[in-house]
Amino acid sequence: MQNNEDKFKKVIAHAKEYGFIFQSSEIYDGLSAVYDYAQNGVELKNNIKNYWWKSMVQMNENIVGIDSAIFMHPTVWKASGHVGAFNDPMIDNKDSKKRYRADVLVEDFMAKIEAKINKDIEKARKRFGDSFDEEQYRATNSRIIERQAKIDDISKKLYGAMESENLASIKTLIEELGITCPLSGSKNWTDVRQFNLMFSTQMGSISDDANEIYLRPETAQGIFVNYLNVQKTGRMKIPFGIAQIGKAFRNEIVARQFIFRMREFEQMEMQFFVRPGEELKWFEYWKNKRIAWHKALGIPEDNYRFHDHEKLAHYANAASDIEFKFPFGFKELEGIHSRTDFDLSAHQEFSGKKLQYFDPELNKSYVPYVVETSIGLDRMFLSILSYAYQEEKLEDGSSRVVLNIPPILAPVKATVLPLTKKDGLPEKAKEIMNTLKQDYICQYDEKDAIGKRYRRQDAIGTPYCITIDHQTLTDNTVTIRERDTMQQERIDIDKLSGIIHEKLKIQF
Ligand code: GAP
Repeated sequence: MQNNEDKFKKVIAHAKEYGFIFQSSEIYDGLSAVYDYAQNGVELKNNIKNYWWKSMVQMNENIVGIDSAIFMHPTVWKASGHVGAFNDPMIDNKDSKKRYRADVLVEDFMAKIEAKINKDIEKARKRFGDSFDEEQYRATNSRIIERQAKIDDISKKLYGAMESENLASIKTLIEELGITCPLSGSKNWTDVRQFNLMFSTQMGSISDDANEIYLRPETAQGIFVNYLNVQKTGRMKIPFGIAQIGKAFRNEIVARQFIFRMREFEQMEMQFFVRPGEELKWFEYWKNKRIAWHKALGIPEDNYRFHDHEKLAHYANAASDIEFKFPFGFKELEGIHSRTDFDLSAHQEFSGKKLQYFDPELNKSYVPYVVETSIGLDRMFLSILSYAYQEEKLEDGSSRVVLNIPPILAPVKATVLPLTKKDGLPEKAKEIMNTLKQDYICQYDEKDAIGKRYRRQDAIGTPYCITIDHQTLTDNTVTIRERDTMQQERIDIDKLSGIIHEKLKIQF
């Protein structure tokens, strides 16, 4: 059985080999944590966007979309708190000159201890077989108890220091633990400093401070500053939402795990404006809606879980993450936050413009409260790809790599395959292809044996392969092969489009 690390490596290699994701500027040895979406990747990405947009904007009469600019007035980021507080603690190794996130160095140290615990548990599991009780073993084995206590102690110190922004204590912890630089092997560290994650650039030809602007680190602020424009021009009544999909940029100190944490990425965000005092009701509503959206894709439920935040950001009065079981463990996929009136009130104060909404039912004006749903598009992509990648042993002893991508998200919906390159089969196949491509992204393939062609489509997750054979020419029927079951059915050509349409339907 392959372990999760092996599986993740295979997913990354597969994403490149089958035209999903390439490293940016690869011929120049790449650009760290920046990726390009290739011919199949862009289709999967667009399908995720459409699935989200449809469920948010099309299916909700009180939600509309916008597409705001990446560049915004620099004061936006002062009001939102990003200039002052969007920081991570960093530390440099003086010998290798390499920069690290100080908290991640400590977290990695804890992960190594955790790995030792897991190794001991696996050994014991083999030794004791079916009678092994992990919980009991963890509670009674002295070596594990000691290691777990060490992790707990480090974790308490680290998160305490992070919360109080005590950078000196983080450095002391790194020194106490004897953490060395993975590159130079030395313990020659600088002090820990705060590092702002926003990219900045100059607007216009004169480069002085007044012209410094930022690449947005979240799309949400473009929604906040436009909320009254949209409300008035769209005659929206509270509660209402504004949705947006777009690029965001963060100068992450440690960017790793492929497209999980990137420096340029995309977000799909929705801000829902509600009456003050009703925000927690709507927070629960959106938590339920969003988890249902994920589950509607048919990926087994045990791949998702909520993580409710106990420690809240200063602007939130409730927050929860939807976590996904990535090959490297359960990690945040989406955040649902009750952001109070923090952002709108701050913009009101910094801009000097009233951002109040007049509620005709209550006959009074107020700054609305906001419940936000925010999901990383690239992270959603990675969740789908890593779940979908399967290596299967088949009954005839052969094997296949198949991407079990939910059909609605699959890059190519159907492939048209003439059994042979002669006897008029290609002509008939192209006729079918020309009809289907009006509605779906389809491929045509006549090269190699049919089995090999099926495998090529399995590897990019195409749900349906349509084969044209000699019988097609006599009775206008084709075979349609379903990717997951590999079952084939003979059907009338006229029914093809309807069958594909039916199978791609999803209930929101
Ligand atoms: N407006 C709220 C906000 O931006 P966040 O938790 O910082 O909240 C929301 O980001 C989502 O954006 C995350 O749940 C994650 O899916 C995605 N995301 C954040 N940073 C990312 C990065 N560096 N690379 C890829 N996705 C990222």
